[in-house]
Amino acid sequence: MSSQGFPAVRLRRLRRTAGLRAMARETRVSPSQLIAPLFVRKGKNVREEISSLPGVFRLSPDTARAESESFLRLGIPAVILFGIPERKDAEGTEAWDDDAAVQETARLLKKELPELVVLTDVCLDEYTSHGHCGVLRGEEVDNDATLPLLARAALSHARAGADIVAPSDMMDGRVGVIREALDGAGFSERAILAYSAKTASAFYGPFREAADSAPKFGDRRGYQMDAGNAREAMREIELDLAEGADAVMVKPALSYLDVIQRARARFDCPIAAYNVSGEYAMVKAAGRNGWIDEKRTVCEILTSIVRAGADWILTYHAKDAAGWLVDGTFLA
Ligand code: PBG
Repeated sequence: MSSQGFPAVRLRRLRRTAGLRAMARETRVSPSQLIAPLFVRKGKNVREEISSLPGVFRLSPDTARAESESFLRLGIPAVILFGIPERKDAEGTEAWDDDAAVQETARLLKKELPELVVLTDVCLDEYTSHGHCGVLRGEEVDNDATLPLLARAALSHARAGADIVAPSDMMDGRVGVIREALDGAGFSERAILAYSAKTASAFYGPFREAADSAPKFGDRRGYQMDAGNAREAMREIELDLAEGADAVMVKPALSYLDVIQRARARFDCPIAAYNVSGEYAMVKAAGRNGWIDEKRTVCEILTSIVRAGADWILTYHAKDAAGWLVDGTFLA
């Protein structure tokens, strides 16, 4: 009998021992793929735990620096900064204040940890009194009126030293306007990571508590994507690349692994996936209740995101996961 199947073929042979399994493993995750989110506010020595994100803290520039140093020691090359403002107003003016928390932290990090890659989230929702990602006209977010404000925020981040600015607002045309503003101010070498395929998602709940950025009325479905749309996600990515994005993002990650996979098959730029706050909170809550094994769950989640095709993962698990990784795989 020809050996086209069982019993000559037994896939279990390469699963028999940990050594064989490690050799047969197709997907490796490296700490160098991880980007750690940091919530920053003005002040000194601040370290306030966010109740819906256990293990994640609101930090001041000095404590953000200490945290970033421990990331580097674990092989995590990058952080992404989110600001908790001192004041909110209709336009979100603190977003482009050169002395605000994000800018102050970026300056400090680039001065004291020059090898750290600093990304900044460019959006107005944390800074607007109404909590929407742009300026309002009536009850709608005015796309074109928002663009120059996003450009001002991105430029302010670049002046503070950000290596990569990451617009998360989902306005049409924002990548092009930001690219033009950066180039016009002598920052043509700074990169843009576009939150291209960002869905209007229930999984952002804990982030909105952390950043106090929940919309005061309505929701974000008028500008963020519909959960059912994967083809449209490809159009978003294509447009952002045409406007000058250096890398693109799919967000959230876990319910959108198919979108990551499609993007990987179609585009040759770096693809980031955002393992968002709600995805993290569910794992933490179930882990704390003893309902799942947190460590094994996190390992499986991060492996699946890389297997789908992501190059970079933004994740609140970054520090724990980096500590658990050995030679690209997670200890059993
Ligand atoms: C907008 C922004 C959000 C997140 C990242 N950037 C919130 C939103 O769009 O409502 C969510 C991240 C997360 O849930 O972890 N500035």
